[in-house]
Amino acid sequence: MEKLIVEGGHRLEGTVVISGAKNAALPILVSSLLTAGWNVYQNVPDLRDVRTIERLLVDLGAVVETTGSEVKVSANAISSHEASYELVKTMRASVLVLGPLLARLGKARVSLPGGCAIGARPIDLHLKGLEQMGADISLEHGYIDARADRLKGADIYFDIVTVTGTENLMMAAVLADGETTLKNAAREPEVVALAETLNQMGAEITGAGTPEIVIRGVNELGPASVTIIPDRIEAGTFMIAAAITGGDIKIAGCEPRHMEAVIHKVRQVGVTVKEEPGGLHVVGGEAISSVDVKTVPYPGFPTDMQAQFMALMCFANGLSVISEAIFENRFIHVSELQRMGANIKISGSVAMVRGGTRLAGAPVMATDLRASASLILAALAAEGTTEISRIYHIDRGYEGIGKKLAELGARLWRVQE
Ligand code: UD1
Repeated sequence: MEKLIVEGGHRLEGTVVISGAKNAALPILVSSLLTAGWNVYQNVPDLRDVRTIERLLVDLGAVVETTGSEVKVSANAISSHEASYELVKTMRASVLVLGPLLARLGKARVSLPGGCAIGARPIDLHLKGLEQMGADISLEHGYIDARADRLKGADIYFDIVTVTGTENLMMAAVLADGETTLKNAAREPEVVALAETLNQMGAEITGAGTPEIVIRGVNELGPASVTIIPDRIEAGTFMIAAAITGGDIKIAGCEPRHMEAVIHKVRQVGVTVKEEPGGLHVVGGEAISSVDVKTVPYPGFPTDMQAQFMALMCFANGLSVISEAIFENRFIHVSELQRMGANIKISGSVAMVRGGTRLAGAPVMATDLRASASLILAALAAEGTTEISRIYHIDRGYEGIGKKLAELGARLWRVQE
């Protein structure tokens, strides 16, 4: 296993180019299961989660050809309808194959994801929606077994806004008999990107990006050729890197329209964020002000930026109240930040961060993807050297983060543990 060594105290300057969004690439790659043709995807990030979903597609019988950031997928012959425990346990988003397999083959067997580091994360709403569409679902030996001759359109209301739940049911509904309405649907840009891909394949989806999505089922879909949208969480993470080091970073290739809540908060702490053609220009100041943050579904402040924002608040003047309203156990990075000297108290789903204490490098452990990003950010601004073990988590969702940070002037390197 590798660990990352970060030498703190270097101001970051320069331009970083944002990669394709992991959370858009995953469902879009999976949507290839809905057609027999060759799909072509551009700007696909080179990430461990992307390679995992490709492995799953190959397991199911698809042919995947990768050339740099272009990925071609043909699911002409699907030879299996099973997503194994081995794959689902390494990446929960594997459950995204449930809807498309059921729609295309009339059957799917997908391992139940089980718990993960950031909470229980059930998929009951995915299953309830599929049942409403006429699927017969049973749970046996840790697997979901779903069957349906042809799914039927239904009126589905989500009790909780769920991103992959919305995507799974949207992919199930495109080949269903009749019209499906998804109410209280997720509005994330990645949901919109998937809907646009499906429409290019011949689906009839309206309302993506609003809480009500209507999908008129069609008999057949053709292939798509799409470019993956930029990763708004990667872009947000580099905004915090500029803020936390008092740096000056141009964030090229991002989509500011997808990042309004984060831009708003970063401006509130006293950092200059300018929209420029092709991206954002972020200039950190001398002092950082404390602000409160509550994570909510899009277009609110994303839970995937909470840990990184908390790292920034450790360096602010005053008290910041950070409420995590999406996942129940998403403060595991707190104890690691405390090891570096952060003053943070947790009460239920609220973390109170008292800024202004100096953080010093320490041995810490990455526990999940966004927690690793938060530790790297804290380490960039801490005094001395931080050693982050289990750094493999970062490779799930940040393409070449070490190289990108080094090009901005960060001093960091990987070593074997
Ligand atoms: C997606 C993102 C993840 C992000 C999260 C919230 C992908 C691949 N992952 O995860 O990066 O952090 O959205 O923005 O896009 N829930 C239920 N029952 C369900 C489904 C969800 O209770 O059937 C709950 C979850 O436990 C959680 C909340 O709903 O509390 C939101 O989860 P959800 O939006 O489904 O997260 P993911 O789609 O797994």
